[in-house]
Amino acid sequence: MAGASTSELSTDFVDGTSTLGRLILARDWADSPVGPPSRWSQGLKTTVGLVLRAQAQIVLFWGPEFVALYNDAYAPTIGDKHPRALGRPARENWSELWTDLEPLLEGVRRTRKTFSAKDRPFYIERHGYGETVYFDVSYSAVPEADGSVAGVLCIVSETTERVRALAALRESEARLRDLNETLEERILERTRELERANDALRQAQKMEAVGQLTGGIAHDFNNLLQGIAGSFDLIRRRSGDPERVLRWSEAGLKAAERGARLSSQLLAFSRVQKLEIKPLDLSKTLIGFGAILRSSIGPEIRIHMNVSAEDLWILCDRVQLEMAILNLALNARDAMPSGGDLSIAAIAQHIAGKPGMADGEYVELSVKDNGCGMPSPIAERAFEPFFTTKEVGRGTGLGLSQVYGTVVQSGGGVRIESIEGAGTTVLLYLRRAEPTTEQSIEREDPLPAPHQWGRF
Ligand SMILES: Nc1ncnc2c1ncn2[C@@H]1O[C@H](COP(=O)(O)OP(=O)(O)OP(=O)(O)O)[C@@H](O)[C@H]1O
Ligand SMILES: [Mg+2]
Repeated sequence: MAGASTSELSTDFVDGTSTLGRLILARDWADSPVGPPSRWSQGLKTTVGLVLRAQAQIVLFWGPEFVALYNDAYAPTIGDKHPRALGRPARENWSELWTDLEPLLEGVRRTRKTFSAKDRPFYIERHGYGETVYFDVSYSAVPEADGSVAGVLCIVSETTERVRALAALRESEARLRDLNETLEERILERTRELERANDALRQAQKMEAVGQLTGGIAHDFNNLLQGIAGSFDLIRRRSGDPERVLRWSEAGLKAAERGARLSSQLLAFSRVQKLEIKPLDLSKTLIGFGAILRSSIGPEIRIHMNVSAEDLWILCDRVQLEMAILNLALNARDAMPSGGDLSIAAIAQHIAGKPGMADGEYVELSVKDNGCGMPSPIAERAFEPFFTTKEVGRGTGLGLSQVYGTVVQSGGGVRIESIEGAGTTVLLYLRRAEPTTEQSIEREDPLPAPHQWGRF
């Protein structure tokens, strides 16, 4: 070029140690609107020299066609647009975002005002597919020596990864918030499904129990009424035979007594009856009750009473306690269909550290048989109201729950020891009382559920 000095034509401004510097030196600039580097204006040379040495991601768009000149740091941000973008008009290689980019560059050139933005989205195709990427950008005007704006220097910093990570984080936070907000509602809802299911189950079990109970009781009462009616019938027909009338009336009376026992058992179960808990002498009670026991369980079973002679005062309802002993004796009788031994013993005991029972002085009353015994799944359920293994009409399953209710309501405890095939012992722990004390406790609070101490 005429008048150009050697130094003016030099390419010394190009940093040959950078990849883009070497590319600039190696490139044939014949096709580029900016022409060969040696002939670039001083302003362009100075700016490109600066760009090539910078570590920041920088692209310079030069001239009316915004010819792209950029550095090593910038090249990766345009993917496969590099190296063909170098020295070419921007519109050729940024075609997919040109409608977005051109106004920005034009705006800076026209107004000379710097455009800057954080996490500015750009739609770009740089890896064979379109994607939205993000950059912190600062676009500023580069003046020529005459003051005119010849180019736009774009210092950028890609933030795509940070923006995406942040978006993902926000999304998961939102999901978590959502989950938290609905979690309580969902738990409540589930608790409501479980409760409904439980209620239905309980209701079904209750119906089953009531069905068994009414079946059993109706049958029992029917038998008793037949016995009573039969006795009256015989008495009416043979009213002239006093000996027989006596026997039949005794049979009728017995049946009526059984009916009374059954109904008082039911009443005790439904807790209509109130317990009269008073000090009573157990030894005396047992001895006085012996005759009734004997007549109830028949001659095949031998009764052994082992009651210490000393006074054994306890706190209990006398009538209920007698009924409990009778219930235990009847269970023993049923467990020994071909006879056996029934042993009843009472001794004073100090109890400490037993679950479900207050520490203190008790009397242990044991009712033991050497009958069929129970497998443990039966023993575990034996205290349950209406639990029976006996056929309809032979057992209502209320005997042991009467025993349990009586003892527990008077502040004691009860448990079963049973060995299948060998026999059963039911142990009642009754609170000891001072012989002189006159105590009366009326309890109406519902029975606690049988606890482990209650079963064995
Ligand atoms: N001494 C025992 N030996 C063997 N099994 C027993 C004994 N005592 C109770 N059982 C078992 O426990 C179950 C429940 O006894 P529970 O006295 O509560 O009811 P039941 O005797 O069946 O009927 P109910 O006493 O109301 O006429 C019995 O059906 C029986 O299976
Ligand atoms: Mg029974």
